[in-house]
Amino acid sequence: MALYSKVTGCGSYLPSRVVTNAELAKRVDTTDEWIRQRTGIRERRRAEDGELTSDLGVKAAEEALAMARLSGADLDLIVCATATPDETFPATATRIQERLGMCQGAAFDVQAVCTGFIYALAVADNFLRLGQARNALVVGAETFSRILDYDDRSTCVLFGDGAGAVVLQAAEGNGAIESGVLSTHLYSDGRHHDALYVDGGPSSTGTVGRVRMEGREVFRHAVVRMAEAIDAALTANGLNPGDIDWLVPHQANLRIIEAMARRLNLPEDRVVVTVDRHANTSAASIPLALCEAVKDQRIRSGDLILMEAMGGGFTWGSALVRW
Ligand code: UT7
Repeated sequence: MALYSKVTGCGSYLPSRVVTNAELAKRVDTTDEWIRQRTGIRERRRAEDGELTSDLGVKAAEEALAMARLSGADLDLIVCATATPDETFPATATRIQERLGMCQGAAFDVQAVCTGFIYALAVADNFLRLGQARNALVVGAETFSRILDYDDRSTCVLFGDGAGAVVLQAAEGNGAIESGVLSTHLYSDGRHHDALYVDGGPSSTGTVGRVRMEGREVFRHAVVRMAEAIDAALTANGLNPGDIDWLVPHQANLRIIEAMARRLNLPEDRVVVTVDRHANTSAASIPLALCEAVKDQRIRSGDLILMEAMGGGFTWGSALVRW
């Protein structure tokens, strides 16, 4: 018998404040038309002053726990993916742990920026497969609005705030996984630091810093790298693109998402898109999209879901989940 991870709940949370393209166009030299055409983004959410990454994460976590019919006290692992932690330390995961009433096990953050959710899912899945935890919460939560340079039109229009979470529970089986995490594939290449980074931090400048990106360079790599991660996922599971029911991609740019869908020969209505309303919420984008499609019952029991992401580092990766 082998251990594996069942996904038993998901939840999401978006701050109520909507920021439209038109509103940003009052602040920087941009237009609604440019943003829509180049990215597919119409609007994004922004956390209120004093509303922290952990606040967003807790709300998403509570929803995920309710779906899984668990309480915080049942959890023995929290892995939180975030590039915008409440504080330099301790981990935002420990603040979420305290708020959920979990007093056992371990809670920590992982940092892979926009690939963060895939990384966190992989870490939690491996804990469960090894028997080191039984009930895990994986959170992707970001307040990217806090690290944007609102004088830089090439980045400040692209990102938004939000959180998503899933609950993984250990299960035992001795054959094909009928429902759960089939595989995760993680990659990084630190040579590309300068293409996407934040120009501050406790050890470099002592400041928080702001997002800097060479968008065209990231775009070029994203399409190639995510395609490789998708191929690795399919090959590892002996699957073909035709077996995929849903693509739940990282939501950075509609043109990148469409390129991935074309490559998989997936029709538009099999791709979950939220970038138009959420913009790029970094580690939160995949669980936000996943939860939306679960809540509106597009994703159903037994569906095969492919997730992929690419972010600063560079980092990139894929995950296959049978719902
Ligand atoms: O989640 C992490 C991964 N991130 C991504 O995957 C992002 C990947 N990159 C992208 O999505 C795209 O590269 C962007 C949306 C960031 C930019 O789109 P692009 O088609 O690659 O545009 P560009 O950077 O090549 O810029 C084209 C022009 C430039 O003007 P010139 O040099 O041609 O005169 C920019 O200055 O568009 C200009 N521009 C803008 N114009 C109006 C850049 N930002 C804006 C703006 N409004 N907000």
